[in-house]
Amino acid sequence: MKVAANLLLRHAREVLTCGGKLAPRAPLADFDPTPLGIIEDGAVAIADDRIVAVGRTADVERAVTLTADATVLDVGDALLTPGLVDAHSHSLFAGHRAGEFSLRLQGASYAEIAARGGGIAASVRALRAASDDVLRALLTKRLDAMARFGTTTVEVKTGYALETAHELRSLAVLRSVGDRIVPTFLGLHAVAPELRGEADGRARYLATVAGRMLDAVAQQGHARFIDAYIDGPGFSVAECAPTLERAKALGLRARLHVGQFEDVGGAQFAAALGAASADHLEHVSDDGLRAMAAAGVTAVLLPGAAFSLGQPMPDARRMRALGVSVALATDCNPGTSHCDALPWMAAFGVRQMGLSTVEAWFGITATAADCLELSNRGRIVVGARADLAVLDLPSWEALPYVLGSPRALATVTAGALRRWQ
Ligand code: NIG
Ligand code: FE
Repeated sequence: MKVAANLLLRHAREVLTCGGKLAPRAPLADFDPTPLGIIEDGAVAIADDRIVAVGRTADVERAVTLTADATVLDVGDALLTPGLVDAHSHSLFAGHRAGEFSLRLQGASYAEIAARGGGIAASVRALRAASDDVLRALLTKRLDAMARFGTTTVEVKTGYALETAHELRSLAVLRSVGDRIVPTFLGLHAVAPELRGEADGRARYLATVAGRMLDAVAQQGHARFIDAYIDGPGFSVAECAPTLERAKALGLRARLHVGQFEDVGGAQFAAALGAASADHLEHVSDDGLRAMAAAGVTAVLLPGAAFSLGQPMPDARRMRALGVSVALATDCNPGTSHCDALPWMAAFGVRQMGLSTVEAWFGITATAADCLELSNRGRIVVGARADLAVLDLPSWEALPYVLGSPRALATVTAGALRRWQ
């Protein structure tokens, strides 16, 4: 029986299905592309928002009947990949902090700038002053910029509001943009600026987040995950635990900022809590990584932040050797990584963090989707959501080879085709 399709992408030089499985502790010299499931002269057929056939073009064309209004795109000399998945961003922000970046170039540290009222607090002031419509327009523009690099799903955190009504408003804006976005509540990003000067301000803010703010977020129902900044300049494990444990009981799983500047035990805590991911990990012990591997906590690595801050890159090679799954994300934010280009993060993964190109592809597709609990995205398999990218690359091996980021010629998001060139 032939299956109906209303969108056909065909004659791709290579389709990367990412439908295979990476061995948990793949030796890093392993350049075997088998898990990528490469199909030469490949095609993908779509009915509405689902993939209904994938294979060699001749086989797919035999297997489907195109509807009268079907769209057919000849991919030609480009790669057809799963829509890329960015598992960590702070893309909901207003304004910019280019002035701070200049101060850092002149020697000021991230922590010094924050102590002077800049940093996250500067972005909090800008977000609170922006209307819903302005925030939605800025966010949509950024999502389109990301799509031009092939990204069709983006996790976006709140955390530039730090006050209950503005956090709820941030989550409502994220939700209004639709399911390209996975919203994460990040009340524990920093102490709200208006409480910082007060003697008991920190304790009051922690109590508010763990109580009233979390209750309101859970009741609103827009957030899919909860995050906390567990780090020297952020919060301790003991400070975050009450909020995160209550959140877990309310059905909000954690994905945590851990060890960007200091190892304060966040990796072990993420494992004990059953977090979906621990992110950053520039500073993490082998014990922390072993605990993450045993608990199935994915490492989401953010080379854009390490690069912008002039820090050493997180050691993906060590993580994989200890059995940890690795995803790569932009961390798109106005302070430490003003970046839309997810494939470029994968190139860093290969060039500077010890990943194979195969592992890097998984880090921006299937592994990233899995840690967002979206196993129907990030791979091209029958039944998966029709999220695809047509990337201007000559072969799968070229991901870390081009300097800068390859462009997407087109993307498909839940079956909707957009041509970018
Ligand atoms: O992931 N360091 C914590 N959070 C962000 C930066 C936020 C900001 O500086 O605005 C990060 O790097
Ligand atoms: Fe971040």
